[in-house]
Amino acid sequence: MEQRRSVGKDIIKCNHISKTFPNQKESHNVLHNIDLSVEENELVVILGPGQCGKSTLINLIAGLEKATSGDVSVCGKTVEGPGPDRGVVFQSISLFPWLTTIGNVEYGLKMRGVSKAERRKRAQYYIDLVGLNGFEHSFPVALSGGMRQRVGIARAYCIEPNVMLMDEPFSALDAQTRYLMQEELERIWQIEKRTIVFVTNNLEEAIYLADRIIVLSNCPARIKKEYIVDLPRPRNYVSPEFLALRKEIDDIMDSAN
Ligand SMILES: Nc1ncnc2c1ncn2[C@@H]1O[C@H](COP(=O)(O)OP(=O)(O)O)[C@@H](O)[C@H]1O
Ligand SMILES: [Mg+2]
Repeated sequence: MEQRRSVGKDIIKCNHISKTFPNQKESHNVLHNIDLSVEENELVVILGPGQCGKSTLINLIAGLEKATSGDVSVCGKTVEGPGPDRGVVFQSISLFPWLTTIGNVEYGLKMRGVSKAERRKRAQYYIDLVGLNGFEHSFPVALSGGMRQRVGIARAYCIEPNVMLMDEPFSALDAQTRYLMQEELERIWQIEKRTIVFVTNNLEEAIYLADRIIVLSNCPARIKKEYIVDLPRPRNYVSPEFLALRKEIDDIMDSAN
């Protein structure tokens, strides 16, 4: 079952992590013994049903939650809390409404004391990269959902983290915009390669984006299976190879074990 390529160095390591939330009546076991390594510049998609523990897993890597047992390390350092080595993009867009596009994108650099000229230069580069040239001075309220997610991606990139953590970033978008953003993310990632962990419950999105798909079971989530997706990029959603893989993973997701 373990069919991971071994070419680059591991950037993220999750060692036997389990997570239990203490609830009022009984404790709630959400993750069960997850072992996962992600290589440099690999795009790994965590695919699983709703409420299975995907966000919990990404929050553990982000340092927003602590594992009940096991540990997570990023670039050889045990994760103790959030840090600028990890950029996060969530489904619900959390841009500062009082800041413009450029203000939001450069915010992390400003907090770190980067000079105005330098942070403007870097922010502009990532704004151009995500296709928001011309919208530098727009406030979030004036942007569409897809554009706000572009700002979120540029903002995460702008702190130049070692890893990008994306928790269902496109699931609140309409279907058309979602396809477009999948294509855009792949284009951006081809230009600026990063180690990405991308969470989704959408199988088609997973196959379109992933170098490797980790399929999680229902809660408590454990790793059901891993798939290396070696279809040429950019991928065609309706190619026979794409559809065959989709059928295969769909069957695994439906199976009880
Ligand atoms: N802070 C928390 N306290 C208690 N239960 C939680 C907490 N966070 C998540 N859960 C529970 O853990 C389960 C998995 O949640 P989550 O990781 O958000 O799933 P997913 O992202 O796959 O939809 C859910 O049943 C959820 O109610
Ligand atoms: Mg979630």
